[in-house]
Amino acid sequence: MTHSCSGPCFDRRGALTAAAVAGVGIPFLAACGNDSSGDVAVDTGPAGTSLTTTGSVPVGGGTIIDEEKVVVVQPREGEFKAWSSICTHQGCSVTAVEDGEIICRCHSSHFSIDDGAPVSGPASTPLPEVAIKVSGEDVQLA
Ligand code: FES
Repeated sequence: MTHSCSGPCFDRRGALTAAAVAGVGIPFLAACGNDSSGDVAVDTGPAGTSLTTTGSVPVGGGTIIDEEKVVVVQPREGEFKAWSSICTHQGCSVTAVEDGEIICRCHSSHFSIDDGAPVSGPASTPLPEVAIKVSGEDVQLA
C-alpha cells in the first residue's frame, strides 16, 4: 500500500471507492495518493466513449481530443495507442503532434508517440497511457 486515506477516496474516474462513508455523508474529499512518485492520474471518460475515427489519426502522428484529455496516435499503420494529453511537466495540455512527437508548448516538452516517453524539454516523466479499443473505424476508451 503506497497511501492511506483518512476520508473517502476516489479512483481515477471519480468513483467513490471507500466504504467508510456509508451512512455518514462525505465530510471532505481527501486528496489520496499524492503524485510525488511522478504518477499522474488520468481522468478521461467512461469506457466506450468514442474518441475519434481511425481515418482521423495520421500514420506517424496523432489527434488530440481535448474533451477527454487524450492524444490518440498511430505510430505505425494500423497500430493505435493513446496517451494522456496533460503534460507531465507542469500540467499544460499538449498542443500538437508533429514528426512523431507530442508537443507541449508551455515549456517545449516533446514526447514520443510510440511510448509517451519524454524526448526533449523539461518533462522527465512519460505521458500516462490511456486504454483504448478500436471498434470498426471508431476509436474508443476501453
Ligand atoms: S507544462 Fe508542458 S512543458 Fe511545462
